[in-house]
Amino acid sequence: MNIFPKQIKTNLFRKKTIHFKGVFNLVFLYKLLMGLGKMVKINSNYDKLAAGYLFPEIAKRTKAFLSANPGVSVMKLGIGNTTEPLTKTTLNGLRMGVEKLASVETYTGYGDEQGNTALREAIAKKYSDYNVEIDPSEVFVSDGAKPDSGNIQSIFSQDAIIAVQDPAYPVYVDTNVIAGRTGENENGLYKGIVYMSCSEENNFFPTVPRARVDLIYLCSPNNPTGAVATHEQLKKFVDYALENKAVIIFDSAYAEYISDPTLPRSIYEIKGAKECAIELNSFSKSAGFTGVRLGWSIVPKNLVTEDSVAGKVNALWNRRQTTFFNGASNIVQDGGLAVLSIEGQEENKKVIDYYMENAKIIREGLESIGIKCFGGVNAPYIWMKTPNGLTSWEFFDKLLNECHVVGTPGSGFGPGGEGYFRLSAFGHKENIEKAVSEIKNKLKVEE
Ligand SMILES: Cc1ncc(COP(=O)(O)O)c(C=O)c1O
Repeated sequence: MNIFPKQIKTNLFRKKTIHFKGVFNLVFLYKLLMGLGKMVKINSNYDKLAAGYLFPEIAKRTKAFLSANPGVSVMKLGIGNTTEPLTKTTLNGLRMGVEKLASVETYTGYGDEQGNTALREAIAKKYSDYNVEIDPSEVFVSDGAKPDSGNIQSIFSQDAIIAVQDPAYPVYVDTNVIAGRTGENENGLYKGIVYMSCSEENNFFPTVPRARVDLIYLCSPNNPTGAVATHEQLKKFVDYALENKAVIIFDSAYAEYISDPTLPRSIYEIKGAKECAIELNSFSKSAGFTGVRLGWSIVPKNLVTEDSVAGKVNALWNRRQTTFFNGASNIVQDGGLAVLSIEGQEENKKVIDYYMENAKIIREGLESIGIKCFGGVNAPYIWMKTPNGLTSWEFFDKLLNECHVVGTPGSGFGPGGEGYFRLSAFGHKENIEKAVSEIKNKLKVEE
């Protein structure tokens, strides 16, 4: 049996002075022999991930409840998934995208990985609503803010120190765990990550880290707390980032839910942010594209790191996207363009108002029975304090058993979420009203 590739065999048995290539082949052979019987290894960082993702556990408990209570139905106020149909203008845009594929004159195949020029321009123009100037070359169209928030870490160094809000949207932490930037999880905290506490004391927006960090994930309006950062709060982070040569990853997926005109909807409203912040956004929650899939990132040309000059980070992200991503669907990009038209914006604003009316119903209903609530005013999430000192999961079971309502335990978003619970305003109004009425009538809250 010939176990050696031809080249190795010749080099090994040809009695010649060992030159560089020969040494290399010997090393290769040694490794080959040592490795005999061994197999490819997995990325063991996955094993560090805290057992069970939040939503599968919710589904498991809900299923168990339903099989123990046949005939009972549950009302879901848990997952942040949109429920209302797409608007007329949006649908027309999508239809147009489909139609274009039907004729040889307008058919397109692969497009630019960074997105179609018209859409990049429309997104850049949207920033003028916030008095912010963005160049289309700084816009990268994607299939959503979740992929972008997971992928963006890959353009930063392996030893980058990560800071996250606690509680936070789990993707920021999990993707850095998978990338190997953390140690093991101990009591819900990964070694090596800096957790920035968000609590009642700081209105659920953190103070800047005391130690030096490299990458700071901020989400405003926040999932899960519903808190929205003020100009002053964001300015402190921008100043910190500029001073420490850190980069802020700003997730503004819920920006369109801000109705208070004094609150920033983009981090670039803060002076200096273009030198230190990347912004991620999405059509998911602003236009019902959770299943359609479209998002974008802004990587300013002026953004610099300790070891890079202006333009480099933008070029790196471009390289990453052109290597790993083949562009968002051309049909969907036409839908996105329609969303950004004047009619599209007006129609989608009405859908957002609809969800925000749900948020009001939930918040007022809970407060009427003495439950302390946060968020739900400029964000579609209501962050409630669990009554009677219950843990988040204890309250999950109580709400399910007493009211048949499913919500999301705050502890699933990080240890800082323990003792809190998230209710989502995404849903049909009649279901929300029914759920709130059940909570008001059946939830036993001791005084
Ligand atoms: C903070 C935050 N960012 C991003 C996303 C996902 O966005 P997309 O659907 O565009 O991937 C979500 C979804 O719940 C979210 O809460």
